[in-house]
Amino acid sequence: MASLLEIHGLSKVYADGTAALKDVSFSVRRGEFVAVIGPSGAGKSTLLRCINRLVKPSGGEIRFQEIDAAGASGRQVRQLRRQTGMIFQHYNLIQRVSVLRNVLHGRLGYMNAFSGSLGLFSRKDVEEAKRILHRLGLSQQMYKRADELSGGQQQRVGIARALSQKPELILADEPIASLDPVTSRAIMEHLSDICRADGITCIVNLHQVAMARDYATRIIGIHKGEVVFDGPPGELSEDVIHRIYGAAPDGREQGGEALAGA
Ligand SMILES: Nc1ncnc2c1ncn2[C@@H]1O[C@H](COP(=O)(O)OP(=O)(O)OP(=O)(O)O)[C@@H](O)[C@H]1O
Ligand SMILES: [Mg+2]
Repeated sequence: MASLLEIHGLSKVYADGTAALKDVSFSVRRGEFVAVIGPSGAGKSTLLRCINRLVKPSGGEIRFQEIDAAGASGRQVRQLRRQTGMIFQHYNLIQRVSVLRNVLHGRLGYMNAFSGSLGLFSRKDVEEAKRILHRLGLSQQMYKRADELSGGQQQRVGIARALSQKPELILADEPIASLDPVTSRAIMEHLSDICRADGITCIVNLHQVAMARDYATRIIGIHKGEVVFDGPPGELSEDVIHRIYGAAPDGREQGGEALAGA
């Protein structure tokens, strides 16, 4: 089956000279649930941000469907962003507006600037947003302000907003890093369900190895900007985990938090 996303020789050097990604290559098929793991500073966020062009790659190729994502500009970047739903650690909701309106914001990429700026959403978009909120168990919260919700509820709104975009790909950057373990599992269940039931491909950055093992169909391990593991959860041995998380110069192992419960 053709790949949804193909990355070849991707590199990113930030303006201050930091080489965040070095010669990264992998491809993702439709319907995969990929967890990206690695220690702090490994380049996980940079990788996701290159894919939807929040960050411009320094070199290499990214092909997303028919779009040359690495070289895209203007209209193509907008098309790329429309087809990729982004979910963030801190939810990135508009705090003082309703949950429903936050979800409708996922439709802005499909509207002209005039309708978008006035919030003239179609009846169809509103019905669809309500259906998505219902699916995520948020029917009762629809008319509340986003800042009245718990963290787990806010992240579900983040997922609903991404779904309202009707994306081909969901990119989630540490979606559970601010949540307790029970709520984290509920969020991972939702993402996993969306991937399985809707066939939406997910790439999720995670700090917790155990969560990656439990929910991903494939794990990519990054160490200092390089892919050092790419395989199914079953192949994630202790050796591989040490290769991904590395050892500190004083012999202490890094990523203790990540390894706990691994
Ligand atoms: N805008 C920037 N300018 C300069 N350097 C940056 C910038 N953003 C990230 N970096 C650097 O690039 C490297 C990779 O950062 P990135 O945020 O991608 O890592 P990460 O794996 O997401 O880390 P974390 O787990 O802490 O979120 C780090 O050394 C970081 O300091
Ligand atoms: Mg990050």
